Order: sequence, then structure tokens, then C-alpha cells
Amino acid sequence: MMNIAVAYFHYLLIMLMMGSLITEHILLKPKMDAERIKSLAITDLIYGISALLVLLTGLLRFFYFDKGTDYYLANPLFHIKLTLFLIAGLISIYPTIHFLRWRKMINIDTSFNPEPRMVKRFTMILRIELFIIALIPLLAVLINRGY
Ligand code: HEM
Repeated sequence: MMNIAVAYFHYLLIMLMMGSLITEHILLKPKMDAERIKSLAITDLIYGISALLVLLTGLLRFFYFDKGTDYYLANPLFHIKLTLFLIAGLISIYPTIHFLRWRKMINIDTSFNPEPRMVKRFTMILRIELFIIALIPLLAVLINRGY
């Protein structure tokens, strides 16, 4: 029963993580008012929390459920899966720092607008993250089927 609950939450949190990334992509525009910048920062926080919980449920599956740690450690696809997850997490730190900075700036100066080149850069980073995260389920499915 616990196994089913953890597997279910692994999926649910992946959906939340993807959903928040797509929402960030929609919110991120060259011209943003205070409300939009706040929404962006909050959505990014939801993304961060959901990513941590995906990791947690993944680790629970890895340590306690499914096929056992030996199976996963011996599987190169599992290592690729974890590496991709880590890369997606690491590259998300850069925009997060700026989204929080923008939130502070808009509180000080309501006419603040982020630099267009930064908006462009973070849009690209979000796309890369989305692409990486879209690849991970393929690896998970292959791992599950014994590849
Ligand atoms: C974006 C991040 C992730 C995505 C999209 C993802 C996706 C998936 C999917 C779709 C499955 C089910 C595979 C199936 O039943 O066919 C799965 C299973 C699993 N995931 Fe993840 N996962 C992610 C992150 C992680 C992380 C960080 C860990 C470990 C630390 C992890 C560990 C596992 C384990 C152990 C299973 C069970 C595999 C099996 O059925 O043998 N996942 N994952």
C-alpha cells in the first residue's frame, strides 16, 4: 500500500513540477508588473518545493520500494536519470536568484522592469529545464522494463 502511495506521489509531484515550470514560462515577459513578478517568484518557489519532493519520493522508491538499491546502482540509465535531474536543478538556481531579486526591486521601485536580455536568457533556461525533465520519464520507463 505504501509502495502505491509513494509511486502515486512521485507522479503527482512530477506533474506539479512541470506545471509550475510551464506557468513560469508563460509569466516571464519583457514587461512585467508587480503582480506578475510576485506570481513568478511564488511559482518558482512551488517549482523548487515540488522538485525537492520529487527527489524525496524518488529516494523512497530507490531505498525502500520497487527493485532495490543494487538494481538501480548497477543501471547506467538510472545514473543518467539522476544526472539529468541534478543538471535541471542546478541550472534553475540562476533564474531563482534573479526572480527573488526582481521581487525585492519591484517593492522598492514600482516602475522596475527586468532587463530584456535577462528575460530572454531565463526563458531559454526554462526551455532547457523543460526539455531535460521531458526526457527523464523515458529513462524511468526503460529502467522499469529492465533496460
Ligand atoms: C524530473 C524528475 C523525475 C521524473 C520525471 C521521474 C519519472 C519517473 C517515472 C515516470 C517513473 C515510473 C516508471 C515506470 O513505472 O514505468 C519513475 C520511477 C522511479 N523513479 Fe523517478 N522521476 C524523477 C526523479 C527521480 C529521482 C530524483 C529519483 C531518485 C532519487 C527517482 C527514482 C525513481 C525510482 C527508484 C523509480 C522506480 C523505477 C522502477 O519502477 O523500477 N526518480 N520515475
